[in-house]
Amino acid sequence: SQSNQFCEAGIGYDEVGCGISSSSTKLLIKGGTVVNAHHQEIADVYVKDGIIVAVKPNLRVGDDVKVIDATGKFVMPGGIDPHTHLAVEALNTESVDDFFSGQAAALAGGTTMHIDFVIPVNGSLIAGLKAYEKKAKKSCMDYGFHMVITKFDDIVSRDMEIMVKEKGINSFKFFLAYKGVLMVNDELLLEGLKRCKSLGALAMVHAENGDAVFEGQKRMIQLGITGPEGHALSRPPLLEGEATARAIRLAGFVNTPLYVVHVMSIDAMEEIAKARKSGQRVVGEPVVSGLALDDSGLWDSDFTTASKYVMSPPIRASGHGKALQDALSNGVLQLVGTDHCVFNSTQKASGIDDFRKIPNGVNGIEERMHLVWDLMVESGQISVTDYVRVTSTECARIFNIYPRKGAIIAGSDADIIILNPNSTFEINARSHHSRTDTNVYEGRRGKGKVEVTIAGGRVVWENNELKVVPGSGKYIEMAPFSYLFSGIDRADASYLSSLNAPVKRFKSTT
Ligand code: URP
Ligand code: ZN
Ligand code: ZN
Ligand code: ZN
Repeated sequence: SQSNQFCEAGIGYDEVGCGISSSSTKLLIKGGTVVNAHHQEIADVYVKDGIIVAVKPNLRVGDDVKVIDATGKFVMPGGIDPHTHLAVEALNTESVDDFFSGQAAALAGGTTMHIDFVIPVNGSLIAGLKAYEKKAKKSCMDYGFHMVITKFDDIVSRDMEIMVKEKGINSFKFFLAYKGVLMVNDELLLEGLKRCKSLGALAMVHAENGDAVFEGQKRMIQLGITGPEGHALSRPPLLEGEATARAIRLAGFVNTPLYVVHVMSIDAMEEIAKARKSGQRVVGEPVVSGLALDDSGLWDSDFTTASKYVMSPPIRASGHGKALQDALSNGVLQLVGTDHCVFNSTQKASGIDDFRKIPNGVNGIEERMHLVWDLMVESGQISVTDYVRVTSTECARIFNIYPRKGAIIAGSDADIIILNPNSTFEINARSHHSRTDTNVYEGRRGKGKVEVTIAGGRVVWENNELKVVPGSGKYIEMAPFSYLFSGIDRADASYLSSLNAPVKRFKSTT
């Protein structure tokens, strides 16, 4: 393989030169169990020029077709990670996985698409998008964008429309935390929710009460609790529950769908359960760290170890993770993200004297598919079809790219993984493909291994080897008015008629 900056960095994967096809453009995946969210069956999958052409038992093809034997294995849609932060700026530094290394790691773990959050530049959505378009040029897998909203005025309102109608963005995220940086107040959130509704765009929230978190941080520092555990103690589940409830109620008041990102606590999950029970359209996204870990690592005597677990909302005490797993299996929560946002131990060390200066974020883009398989399917908590739903299909439906993504059917993009349920995986920072030097799942082993990843019809991961091409990833435009918006207008009409209040019932006579 050729020498290049990525190989030299010792990351251990091969970059195939631009324009050189790493494999035949025709593939036949033979004899596997093809799994979609609604159905599974033993069938062959024929792929040509990046598209799935046929899914049928016993397909016959010519000798120019590369054949992959999937007997005894599961053939599933590639994972879609709804929540990542590649090359994001935070606390005067930048997360170390960019749109190439983060995506290469994703592909090695069976994820073939992700949706990243564009941060505006000085409040400008247009400038923010430009910056992210530049970051994403080196992409080696397909990706989409959410847009963060940090202020609201006529220009932002106009630019939201441009994002939706011209730029392929159909979701906007509001931070209720990170006071003084990204946080929005209720007035702005309401304006944003109304604008999202009128555009058919999905509103997303980071739900923690930022004012109270700020107070909690001061309290910890005054107590002399400056270590990574202070991060968790300063922002307890209570504050996540409050903000989740508030965002849900405001979205209900506006009657627009709401997506709660990184649900980390029972408190937040129960608010979502209550709202969904009442019929409100609320989507809840747990992240792998919240499902798989507890807060004990934050108390580790080694700062590098303790600080690697710092993310917001914090990883919670044991008990929350299992409750979130239960909520994922019973449908209260619908899809799994990662919030992959990695800073190396040198960057994390900026906060050695003050947890407020530790850049927030954990890894997961490479580990998500394996950990969800092991935690949820191998343990017997969900079916294989539900695994496909929570790791891929539901994300594609919510962001309105189904069935191009999230399905193994004729006409869909050939983003496919082959998972061997009888093989095993092991996670450690030495062998992972991320650029960071730590891993929050260090030493974990489990059952089920993604043996092959096919992205855009090309085999990019096989025999534990990556063959990735910078620039081969495509930007996936996402149209507004997903299924979550269907019927919203009728509900509004029936609300208006239920008011039964005549317009200007009383009038002054002067
Ligand atoms: O700690 C986290 N989650 N960092 C990324 C930014 C966010 O809040 O999603
Ligand atoms: Zn090489
Ligand atoms: Zn967040
Ligand atoms: Zn995030």
